[in-house]
Amino acid sequence: MAKVRFEDVRKVYDNGQVAVQGASFEVADGELMVLVGPSGCGKSTLLRMVAGLEEVSAGTLRIGDRVVNDVPPKDRDIAMVFQNYALYPHMTVAENLAFGLKLRGHDKAEVQRRVQGAAEALGLASMLDKLPRAMSGGQRQRVALGRALVREPAVFLLDEPLSNLDAKLRHSVRTEIAQLHRKLGTTMIYVTHDQVEAMTLGQRIVVLNEGVVQQIDTPMALYDRPANLFVAGFLGSPAMNVLRGVVHRSDGGGLVLRPADGLDVPLGALSLTSEWLGRELMVGVRPEHLQPSSTDTAFNAVIEGLEPVGNEIFVNLRHGGQPLVMRVPPQSLPSVGEGIGVAVVSAALHFFDAASGTRIDCTTAT
Ligand SMILES: Nc1ncnc2c1ncn2[C@@H]1O[C@H](COP(=O)(O)OP(=O)(O)OP(=O)(O)O)[C@@H](O)[C@H]1O
Ligand SMILES: [Mg+2]
Repeated sequence: MAKVRFEDVRKVYDNGQVAVQGASFEVADGELMVLVGPSGCGKSTLLRMVAGLEEVSAGTLRIGDRVVNDVPPKDRDIAMVFQNYALYPHMTVAENLAFGLKLRGHDKAEVQRRVQGAAEALGLASMLDKLPRAMSGGQRQRVALGRALVREPAVFLLDEPLSNLDAKLRHSVRTEIAQLHRKLGTTMIYVTHDQVEAMTLGQRIVVLNEGVVQQIDTPMALYDRPANLFVAGFLGSPAMNVLRGVVHRSDGGGLVLRPADGLDVPLGALSLTSEWLGRELMVGVRPEHLQPSSTDTAFNAVIEGLEPVGNEIFVNLRHGGQPLVMRVPPQSLPSVGEGIGVAVVSAALHFFDAASGTRIDCTTAT
């Protein structure tokens, strides 16, 4: 097992495309770290540099204590699982699992031991004689994981390994990967563009955008304290509501957000550091932190749409020019086109600098 350390790692492709712009972070020994971000943000590039499939343009990459910038892939003690796994169709599960080990010259007993171990870990023990075409997509993907597992590598690299599976299978194989990680305790770096996969699987998550690391933290810390507007908008579904405006103290003593071309939004019993009063800010409020309310801190919004999804309802609102999404437990609500009183949960608001998008801690409860 080993830690993986990026020190100001940069990747510029031959065509001049800067895919990774100086990434510095460490994946701890035994940690399951998820790299997440939109398409093209550099996730696969980072992973492929660890695997040795892409050259590091600048900076230092370590696996364990060893600098691996110039170490060939086969000497890195890693195993990688790709989205498009290709099993050998004419080989049984056992043969597929054993193939790479035999190539590397492991003796028969050792191959047998590892194949058996991986098959048991992945629930494939009863399918060892099957051919891939006689298996489901999820089972085949487990064989693909097994081929990495038998290598007993120091680090597992997984690049969107579940994206070919349907939603239900994705969930079950994801659970298996988490269990496997707990059982093996091997360092894993897992790439996905799916925020739910990232949140549920990662012990920590690296959020990337346009080749730049945005934030690294535990899933809940990222959700509760996003470092900037990008992270705030990327994690959470429906996405965080973001309102731009100037914050004033109301006559009642609380804070009020005044958008440039919209209606005031009362923010409740908070006080703002004086340097931010009267300046333009971005205020973020997650859909679950808007609530139907008839108190005097409520504002009146118009219901534009109702989306009951079973265990909750997404309510699309409009307040002046501002669209908002509120998320509530099942209940009876006014109809589309009617008004509703809405209040924000003051303690759960997020504030960002309007120019840079950086999180600012500028409020205290009163
Ligand atoms: N071989 C290459 N040559 C030139 N540019 C490349 C190459 N591979 C990737 N890129 C570019 O580098 C950037 C990062 O690509 P990368 O594949 O790492 O993104 P990703 O985050 O894995 O995206 P996805 O979620 O779509 O897989 C993209 O702009 C991509 O077009
Ligand atoms: Mg990719």
